[in-house]
Amino acid sequence: MRTLPEPTVADAAPDASTAEPRTVLSVENLRVTFTRGARPVHAVNGISYELQAGRMLAIIGESGSGKSVSVRALMGLLPPSASITGSARLDGRELVGLDERSLRGVRGNDISVVFQDPARSLNPTMSVGHQITEAIRTHHREIGKKEAAERAIELLRMVRLPAAERRFHEYPHQLSGGMRQRVMIAIALAGNPKVLIADEATTALDVTTQAQIMELLVDLQERLGTAVILISHDLGLAASYADEVHVMYAGRIVEQADTDVLFRNVRMPYTKALLGAIPQLSTPPHSLLPVIGGHPPDLSALPVGCSFRPRCPRATEKCEERPELIEAESGHSYACWHPHLEGAK
Ligand SMILES: Nc1ncnc2c1ncn2[C@@H]1O[C@H](COP(=O)(O)OP(=O)(O)OP(=O)(O)O)[C@@H](O)[C@H]1O
Ligand SMILES: [Mg+2]
Repeated sequence: MRTLPEPTVADAAPDASTAEPRTVLSVENLRVTFTRGARPVHAVNGISYELQAGRMLAIIGESGSGKSVSVRALMGLLPPSASITGSARLDGRELVGLDERSLRGVRGNDISVVFQDPARSLNPTMSVGHQITEAIRTHHREIGKKEAAERAIELLRMVRLPAAERRFHEYPHQLSGGMRQRVMIAIALAGNPKVLIADEATTALDVTTQAQIMELLVDLQERLGTAVILISHDLGLAASYADEVHVMYAGRIVEQADTDVLFRNVRMPYTKALLGAIPQLSTPPHSLLPVIGGHPPDLSALPVGCSFRPRCPRATEKCEERPELIEAESGHSYACWHPHLEGAK
Protein backbone atom coordinates (compact mmCIF):
# COMPACT_ATOMS: atom_id res chain seq x y z
CA MET A 1 0.00 0.00 0.00
CA ARG A 2 1.19 3.50 -0.76
CA THR A 3 1.94 5.43 2.34
CA LEU A 4 0.98 9.00 2.86
CA PRO A 5 3.85 11.38 2.36
CA GLU A 6 5.16 12.66 5.65
CA PRO A 7 4.18 16.25 6.29
CA THR A 8 7.83 17.24 6.28
CA VAL A 9 8.34 18.95 2.95
CA ALA A 10 12.09 18.89 3.04
CA ASP A 11 12.40 20.28 -0.48
CA ALA A 12 10.19 23.23 0.41
CA ALA A 13 12.32 24.40 3.29
CA PRO A 14 15.06 26.75 2.17
CA ASP A 15 18.45 25.58 3.22
CA ALA A 16 19.81 28.41 5.34
CA SER A 17 23.39 27.51 4.43
CA THR A 18 22.83 27.83 0.67
CA ALA A 19 20.56 30.90 1.02
CA GLU A 20 18.44 31.60 -2.13
CA PRO A 21 14.94 30.92 -0.85
CA ARG A 22 12.60 29.16 -3.23
CA THR A 23 9.73 31.16 -4.70
CA VAL A 24 6.47 29.22 -4.34
CA LEU A 25 3.98 31.87 -5.40
CA SER A 26 4.51 34.44 -8.08
CA VAL A 27 1.70 36.93 -8.65
CA GLU A 28 1.81 39.37 -11.54
CA ASN A 29 -0.59 42.19 -12.28
CA LEU A 30 -3.51 40.34 -10.70
CA ARG A 31 -6.85 42.06 -11.19
CA VAL A 32 -10.30 41.10 -10.01
CA THR A 33 -13.44 42.88 -11.20
CA PHE A 34 -16.96 41.94 -10.17
CA THR A 35 -19.28 42.55 -13.07
CA ARG A 36 -22.71 41.79 -11.67
CA GLY A 37 -24.87 44.88 -11.26
CA ALA A 38 -24.82 48.17 -13.08
CA ARG A 39 -21.22 49.18 -12.40
CA PRO A 40 -18.16 46.96 -12.28
CA VAL A 41 -16.46 46.76 -8.88
CA HIS A 42 -12.68 46.90 -9.21
CA ALA A 43 -11.71 44.99 -6.09
CA VAL A 44 -8.10 44.12 -6.97
CA ASN A 45 -6.25 46.47 -9.29
CA GLY A 46 -2.98 45.03 -10.47
CA ILE A 47 -0.98 43.52 -7.65
CA SER A 48 2.36 41.77 -8.08
CA TYR A 49 4.49 39.96 -5.54
CA GLU A 50 6.52 36.87 -4.90
CA LEU A 51 6.33 34.65 -1.86
CA GLN A 52 9.11 32.33 -0.77
CA ALA A 53 8.81 28.97 0.94
CA GLY A 54 8.96 29.21 4.71
CA ARG A 55 8.11 32.92 4.79
CA MET A 56 5.17 34.66 6.37
CA LEU A 57 3.60 37.52 4.46
CA ALA A 58 1.11 39.77 6.24
CA ILE A 59 -1.46 41.66 4.18
CA ILE A 60 -2.92 44.59 6.05
CA GLY A 61 -5.37 47.31 5.11
CA GLU A 62 -8.81 48.65 5.95
CA SER A 63 -11.97 46.67 5.44
CA GLY A 64 -12.80 46.41 1.74
CA SER A 65 -9.24 47.01 0.52
CA GLY A 66 -9.22 43.71 -1.38
CA LYS A 67 -7.19 41.50 0.97
CA SER A 68 -9.53 38.51 0.94
CA VAL A 69 -10.52 38.82 -2.71
CA SER A 70 -6.85 38.90 -3.74
CA VAL A 71 -6.18 35.52 -2.13
CA ARG A 72 -9.56 33.94 -2.92
CA ALA A 73 -8.79 34.67 -6.57
CA LEU A 74 -5.84 32.27 -6.32
CA MET A 75 -8.04 29.41 -5.21
CA GLY A 76 -11.13 29.73 -7.35
CA LEU A 77 -13.13 30.81 -4.32
CA LEU A 78 -14.90 33.73 -6.00
CA PRO A 79 -18.38 33.77 -7.55
CA PRO A 80 -18.79 33.61 -11.35
CA SER A 81 -19.35 37.39 -11.41
CA ALA A 82 -15.62 37.82 -10.71
CA SER A 83 -13.39 38.24 -13.70
CA ILE A 84 -9.75 37.58 -12.92
CA THR A 85 -6.84 38.64 -15.11
CA GLY A 86 -3.08 38.65 -14.73
CA SER A 87 -1.04 35.76 -13.54
CA ALA A 88 -0.53 33.75 -10.35
CA ARG A 89 1.92 30.89 -10.62
CA LEU A 90 2.26 28.34 -7.88
CA ASP A 91 5.51 26.49 -8.26
CA GLY A 92 5.42 27.56 -11.89
CA ARG A 93 1.84 26.40 -12.52
CA GLU A 94 -0.55 29.10 -13.72
CA LEU A 95 -3.69 29.31 -11.55
CA VAL A 96 -5.51 32.12 -13.36
CA GLY A 97 -7.86 30.62 -15.92
CA LEU A 98 -7.81 27.09 -14.49
CA ASP A 99 -11.13 25.28 -14.74
CA GLU A 100 -13.11 24.44 -11.60
CA ARG A 101 -12.01 20.81 -11.60
CA SER A 102 -8.32 21.72 -11.64
CA LEU A 103 -8.89 24.40 -9.02
CA ARG A 104 -10.49 21.82 -6.77
CA GLY A 105 -7.20 19.95 -7.02
CA VAL A 106 -5.28 23.10 -6.10
CA ARG A 107 -7.41 23.83 -3.02
CA GLY A 108 -6.12 21.99 -0.03
CA ASN A 109 -3.34 20.28 -1.97
CA ASP A 110 -1.39 23.35 -2.99
CA ILE A 111 -3.06 26.23 -1.20
CA SER A 112 -5.22 25.99 1.91
CA VAL A 113 -7.12 28.64 3.74
CA VAL A 114 -8.23 29.01 7.34
CA PHE A 115 -10.97 31.56 7.97
CA GLN A 116 -12.07 33.51 11.02
CA ASP A 117 -14.98 31.39 12.07
CA PRO A 118 -14.14 27.72 12.64
CA ALA A 119 -17.59 27.11 14.10
CA ARG A 120 -19.11 27.85 10.70
CA SER A 121 -16.49 26.01 8.68
CA LEU A 122 -16.76 22.77 10.65
CA ASN A 123 -19.65 20.35 10.29
CA PRO A 124 -21.46 20.25 13.67
CA THR A 125 -22.81 16.74 13.03
CA MET A 126 -19.46 15.03 12.46
CA SER A 127 -16.67 14.31 14.91
CA VAL A 128 -13.57 16.37 14.27
CA GLY A 129 -11.57 13.20 13.65
CA HIS A 130 -14.01 12.15 10.95
CA GLN A 131 -13.74 15.55 9.29
CA ILE A 132 -9.96 15.46 9.19
CA THR A 133 -10.00 11.86 7.98
CA GLU A 134 -12.35 12.87 5.16
CA ALA A 135 -10.07 15.77 4.24
CA ILE A 136 -7.08 13.44 4.07
CA ARG A 137 -8.98 10.98 1.89
CA THR A 138 -10.14 13.76 -0.43
CA HIS A 139 -6.53 14.63 -1.07
CA HIS A 140 -5.19 11.07 -1.03
CA ARG A 141 -7.85 8.75 -2.42
CA GLU A 142 -5.52 5.77 -2.28
CA ILE A 143 -5.40 5.83 1.51
CA GLY A 144 -7.60 3.52 3.56
CA LYS A 145 -9.83 4.73 6.38
CA LYS A 146 -7.71 3.30 9.16
CA GLU A 147 -4.50 4.81 7.92
CA ALA A 148 -6.21 8.15 7.30
CA ALA A 149 -7.52 8.11 10.88
CA GLU A 150 -4.01 7.48 12.23
CA ARG A 151 -2.75 10.32 10.11
CA ALA A 152 -5.57 12.56 11.38
CA ILE A 153 -4.44 11.96 14.96
CA GLU A 154 -0.89 12.79 13.90
CA LEU A 155 -2.16 16.05 12.43
CA LEU A 156 -4.04 16.84 15.64
CA ARG A 157 -0.82 16.30 17.53
CA MET A 158 1.04 18.44 15.04
CA VAL A 159 -1.34 21.34 15.67
CA ARG A 160 -0.83 20.66 19.39
CA LEU A 161 -4.40 19.84 20.25
CA PRO A 162 -4.26 18.56 23.82
CA ALA A 163 -5.37 14.92 24.24
CA ALA A 164 -5.50 14.39 20.48
CA GLU A 165 -6.74 10.76 20.63
CA ARG A 166 -9.68 11.67 22.82
CA ARG A 167 -10.53 14.86 20.96
CA PHE A 168 -10.55 12.91 17.70
CA HIS A 169 -13.93 11.47 18.68
CA GLU A 170 -15.42 14.74 19.87
CA TYR A 171 -17.75 17.10 18.05
CA PRO A 172 -16.98 20.76 17.28
CA HIS A 173 -19.27 22.07 20.05
CA GLN A 174 -17.22 20.15 22.62
CA LEU A 175 -14.10 22.15 21.75
CA SER A 176 -13.12 25.71 22.62
CA GLY A 177 -12.72 28.33 19.88
CA GLY A 178 -8.93 27.95 19.93
CA MET A 179 -9.18 24.15 19.71
CA ARG A 180 -11.60 24.42 16.80
CA GLN A 181 -9.16 26.69 15.01
CA ARG A 182 -6.41 24.09 15.57
CA VAL A 183 -8.72 21.52 13.99
CA MET A 184 -9.24 23.84 11.01
CA ILE A 185 -5.49 24.18 10.65
CA ALA A 186 -5.15 20.39 10.79
CA ILE A 187 -7.73 20.13 7.98
CA ALA A 188 -5.88 22.80 6.04
CA LEU A 189 -2.66 20.80 6.41
CA ALA A 190 -4.25 17.51 5.33
CA GLY A 191 -3.13 17.95 1.72
CA ASN A 192 0.33 19.19 2.67
CA PRO A 193 -0.11 22.64 1.08
CA LYS A 194 2.73 24.82 -0.12
CA VAL A 195 0.86 27.98 0.85
CA LEU A 196 -1.36 28.33 3.91
CA ILE A 197 -3.59 31.39 4.05
CA ALA A 198 -4.88 32.57 7.43
CA ASP A 199 -7.65 35.07 6.69
CA GLU A 200 -8.40 36.77 10.01
CA ALA A 201 -7.98 33.26 11.44
CA THR A 202 -7.22 34.45 14.96
CA THR A 203 -9.48 37.51 15.07
CA ALA A 204 -12.24 35.85 17.09
CA LEU A 205 -9.86 34.40 19.67
CA ASP A 206 -8.70 35.87 22.96
CA VAL A 207 -5.22 37.36 23.03
CA THR A 208 -3.51 34.35 24.66
CA THR A 209 -5.09 31.81 22.30
CA GLN A 210 -4.32 34.11 19.39
CA ALA A 211 -0.64 34.11 20.33
CA GLN A 212 -0.64 30.31 20.64
CA ILE A 213 -2.18 29.88 17.18
CA MET A 214 0.31 32.35 15.70
CA GLU A 215 3.18 30.47 17.29
CA LEU A 216 1.78 27.28 15.82
CA LEU A 217 1.71 28.86 12.35
CA VAL A 218 5.30 30.05 12.72
CA ASP A 219 6.32 26.59 13.86
CA LEU A 220 4.63 24.94 10.85
CA GLN A 221 6.17 27.49 8.56
CA GLU A 222 9.63 26.71 9.90
CA ARG A 223 9.20 22.96 10.23
CA LEU A 224 7.35 22.21 7.01
CA GLY A 225 8.63 25.07 4.88
CA THR A 226 5.02 26.18 4.30
CA ALA A 227 4.62 29.75 3.09
CA VAL A 228 1.99 31.58 5.14
CA ILE A 229 -0.16 34.53 4.10
CA LEU A 230 -1.57 36.23 7.15
CA ILE A 231 -4.49 38.57 6.51
CA SER A 232 -5.18 40.65 9.54
CA HIS A 233 -6.53 43.88 10.95
CA ASP A 234 -4.15 43.46 13.83
CA LEU A 235 -0.98 45.41 13.19
CA GLY A 236 0.64 44.06 16.34
CA LEU A 237 0.18 40.55 14.99
CA ALA A 238 1.78 41.46 11.66
CA ALA A 239 4.65 43.23 13.42
CA SER A 240 5.27 40.33 15.77
CA TYR A 241 5.11 37.38 13.41
CA ALA A 242 5.36 38.26 9.72
CA ASP A 243 8.60 38.39 7.72
CA GLU A 244 7.15 40.78 5.21
CA VAL A 245 4.19 43.17 5.06
CA HIS A 246 2.01 44.36 2.18
CA VAL A 247 -0.25 47.32 2.83
CA MET A 248 -3.30 47.32 0.57
CA TYR A 249 -5.50 50.24 -0.33
CA ALA A 250 -8.34 50.18 -2.86
CA GLY A 251 -7.14 46.93 -4.38
CA ARG A 252 -3.51 47.91 -4.74
CA ILE A 253 -0.37 47.28 -2.76
CA VAL A 254 0.73 50.76 -1.69
CA GLU A 255 3.67 49.87 0.54
CA GLN A 256 5.72 46.72 0.81
CA ALA A 257 8.83 45.77 2.79
CA ASP A 258 10.24 43.32 5.27
CA THR A 259 8.43 43.80 8.57
CA ASP A 260 11.22 45.46 10.54
CA VAL A 261 12.05 47.82 7.66
CA LEU A 262 8.42 48.79 7.14
CA PHE A 263 7.58 49.41 10.78
CA ARG A 264 10.80 51.36 11.29
CA ASN A 265 10.45 53.55 8.20
CA VAL A 266 6.83 53.97 7.21
CA ARG A 267 6.82 56.06 4.04
CA MET A 268 3.30 55.99 2.67
CA PRO A 269 0.86 58.42 4.36
CA TYR A 270 -1.82 55.72 4.27
CA THR A 271 0.34 53.29 6.23
CA LYS A 272 1.17 56.09 8.60
CA ALA A 273 -2.52 56.77 9.10
CA LEU A 274 -3.16 53.06 9.66
CA LEU A 275 -0.59 53.02 12.39
CA GLY A 276 -1.92 56.14 14.05
CA ALA A 277 1.33 57.85 14.86
CA ILE A 278 4.95 57.10 14.13
CA PRO A 279 4.87 53.36 14.27
CA GLN A 280 7.43 51.45 16.21
CA LEU A 281 8.05 47.85 16.95
CA SER A 282 7.06 48.83 20.48
CA THR A 283 3.53 49.44 19.22
CA PRO A 284 1.43 47.59 21.76
CA PRO A 285 0.64 44.12 20.54
CA HIS A 286 -2.85 43.42 19.26
CA SER A 287 -3.60 47.08 18.67
CA LEU A 288 -6.40 47.34 16.14
CA LEU A 289 -6.41 49.62 13.15
CA PRO A 290 -7.40 53.10 14.21
CA VAL A 291 -10.15 54.73 12.22
CA ILE A 292 -8.84 56.95 9.45
CA GLY A 293 -10.79 60.07 8.54
CA GLY A 294 -12.87 59.89 5.37
CA HIS A 295 -13.94 56.77 3.55
CA PRO A 296 -12.22 54.27 1.30
CA PRO A 297 -13.04 55.06 -2.32
CA ASP A 298 -15.94 53.63 -4.28
CA LEU A 299 -14.39 50.71 -6.12
CA SER A 300 -16.72 51.33 -9.04
CA ALA A 301 -15.43 54.88 -9.48
CA LEU A 302 -11.83 55.04 -8.29
CA PRO A 303 -10.37 58.55 -8.10
CA VAL A 304 -7.97 59.54 -10.85
CA GLY A 305 -4.37 59.22 -9.71
CA CYS A 306 -3.56 58.06 -6.20
CA SER A 307 -6.63 56.40 -4.65
CA PHE A 308 -5.72 57.75 -1.20
CA ARG A 309 -5.54 61.33 -2.49
CA PRO A 310 -8.98 62.48 -1.22
CA ARG A 311 -8.03 61.48 2.35
CA CYS A 312 -4.34 62.28 2.29
CA PRO A 313 -3.00 65.26 4.27
CA ARG A 314 -0.01 65.44 1.90
CA ALA A 315 -1.91 65.36 -1.38
CA THR A 316 -1.03 67.89 -4.09
CA GLU A 317 -1.94 68.26 -7.75
CA LYS A 318 0.85 65.86 -8.55
CA CYS A 319 -1.21 63.09 -6.93
CA GLU A 320 -3.74 63.29 -9.76
CA GLU A 321 -1.14 61.27 -11.60
CA ARG A 322 -1.07 57.72 -10.31
CA PRO A 323 2.12 56.83 -8.45
CA GLU A 324 3.44 53.37 -9.29
CA LEU A 325 4.67 51.01 -6.60
CA ILE A 326 8.43 51.32 -6.94
CA GLU A 327 11.33 50.02 -4.94
CA ALA A 328 12.48 53.45 -3.86
CA GLU A 329 14.87 52.08 -1.25
CA SER A 330 16.49 48.69 -1.13
CA GLY A 331 13.78 46.15 -0.28
CA HIS A 332 11.21 48.85 0.42
CA SER A 333 8.59 49.78 -2.18
CA TYR A 334 5.89 52.40 -1.98
CA ALA A 335 3.45 54.12 -4.30
CA CYS A 336 3.57 57.76 -3.26
CA TRP A 337 4.65 61.16 -4.59
CA HIS A 338 5.08 62.63 -1.10
CA PRO A 339 6.42 59.90 1.16
CA HIS A 340 7.44 60.53 4.75
CA LEU A 341 11.19 60.66 4.35
CA GLU A 342 12.02 62.31 7.66
CA GLY A 343 15.02 60.63 9.15
CA ALA A 344 15.80 58.79 5.91
CA LYS A 345 19.49 58.22 5.27
N1 LIG B 1 -19.00 38.77 -4.62
C1 LIG B 1 -18.74 40.06 -4.68
N2 LIG B 1 -19.42 40.87 -5.52
C2 LIG B 1 -19.16 42.20 -5.58
N3 LIG B 1 -18.23 42.81 -4.84
C3 LIG B 1 -17.52 42.06 -3.99
C4 LIG B 1 -17.72 40.64 -3.86
N4 LIG B 1 -16.86 40.15 -2.92
C5 LIG B 1 -16.15 41.21 -2.49
N5 LIG B 1 -16.54 42.35 -3.14
C6 LIG B 1 -15.99 43.69 -2.93
O1 LIG B 1 -14.60 43.65 -3.11
C7 LIG B 1 -13.98 44.56 -2.22
C8 LIG B 1 -12.84 43.87 -1.50
O2 LIG B 1 -13.39 42.92 -0.61
P1 LIG B 1 -12.50 42.03 0.35
O3 LIG B 1 -13.40 41.03 0.95
O4 LIG B 1 -11.29 41.55 -0.37
O5 LIG B 1 -12.04 43.09 1.44
P2 LIG B 1 -11.08 42.86 2.69
O6 LIG B 1 -9.90 43.76 2.51
O7 LIG B 1 -10.82 41.41 2.85
O8 LIG B 1 -11.98 43.43 3.86
P3 LIG B 1 -12.22 42.86 5.35
O9 LIG B 1 -11.05 43.38 6.14
O10 LIG B 1 -13.50 43.51 5.75
O11 LIG B 1 -12.29 41.38 5.29
C9 LIG B 1 -15.06 45.09 -1.28
O12 LIG B 1 -15.44 46.36 -1.69
C10 LIG B 1 -16.19 44.13 -1.49
O13 LIG B 1 -17.42 44.76 -1.32
MG1 LIG C 1 -11.39 39.99 4.28
